[in-house]
Amino acid sequence: MKGKMIVIEGLDGSGKATQAELLTKRLENEGKKVMKVSFPDYDSPSSSLIKMYLDGQFGTDPDSVNPYAASTFYAVDRYASYKTKWAEHYNTGGIIIADRYTTSNAIHQCSKLPKEMWDEYLEWLFEFEYSKIGLPTPDEVIYLYVETSISQELMMKRYGNDKKKMDIHEKSADYLKRSEAAAAYCADRLNWLTINCVENNAMRSIDDISDELFSAVLRKI
Ligand SMILES: Nc1ncnc2c1ncn2[C@@H]1O[C@H](COP(=O)(O)OP(=O)(O)OP(=O)(O)O)[C@@H](O)[C@H]1O
Ligand SMILES: [Mg+2]
Repeated sequence: MKGKMIVIEGLDGSGKATQAELLTKRLENEGKKVMKVSFPDYDSPSSSLIKMYLDGQFGTDPDSVNPYAASTFYAVDRYASYKTKWAEHYNTGGIIIADRYTTSNAIHQCSKLPKEMWDEYLEWLFEFEYSKIGLPTPDEVIYLYVETSISQELMMKRYGNDKKKMDIHEKSADYLKRSEAAAAYCADRLNWLTINCVENNAMRSIDDISDELFSAVLRKI
C-alpha cells in the first residue's frame, strides 16, 4: 500500500521549508497521515559528505566537484533517510512531504553542465536514484519560483547580512544564475508544477502561496 510523495522544490531561499511545514500542518488538520522530511538530512551522519562539499573541503567552487560525484553524496543521504526514517510510513500508505529531493540534484548539478548535456545527466540521475537505489518516485513536484534577486535578499536577511555564513552554492552568484536556468528547464521537461511566488516584484505572502500549494496538493492525494 504505497503512499503519496509530494516534493517542494525551489532555489535557495525560495520558501521551501516554510511551505513544507505549513502544508504538513494543514494536511494533519485534515486528518491525513502525513510526515515531513527534509534534505539534506543535516542531523544525520549520512550528510557528512554533503557537509564537506558545501564547506569547500573538496574545493571552494561548486564546479570543483563534478555533478555525478556531487549527486551521489546527496543520493546516499536520501537513501539513509528513507531506510531509517520514512520507508515504513510511505509503504503503509502515508503521505510524505519532502523539502527538496532528487529534484535538487537535477537543478543544482545540471547547472554545472553545458545545456546540451542536461538530458543525458537527468536520465542518468533518475535511473540511479529511482531504479537503481530504489528511492520512491514523487507523485508531484512543486517548484516554488522566485527570482534569484528576491530570494538572495531573503537569504541575506536570514544570515543577518553576514556573507561568511553562506555555503559555496549560496556564495556564487554566477552559479545561482545558472541554477535558475536549469530549474526552469527541469520544471518544464519533468512536468513540475510551478507556483510563481513573486508578485509586483516582491514575495507573495506566505499564506497566499500556501493556499495555492494546498489546493494543488489536495488534487493529487
Ligand atoms: N512568502 C514569503 N515572504 C517573505 N519571507 C518569506 C516567505 N517565505 C519564506 N520567507 C522567509 O525567507 C527565508 C527563507 O525561507 P525558507 O527557509 O523557508 O526557504 P528555503 O527554500 O527552505 O531555503 P534554503 O534553500 O536555504 O533551505 C526565511 O527567513 C523565511 O522566513
Ligand atoms: Mg530550507
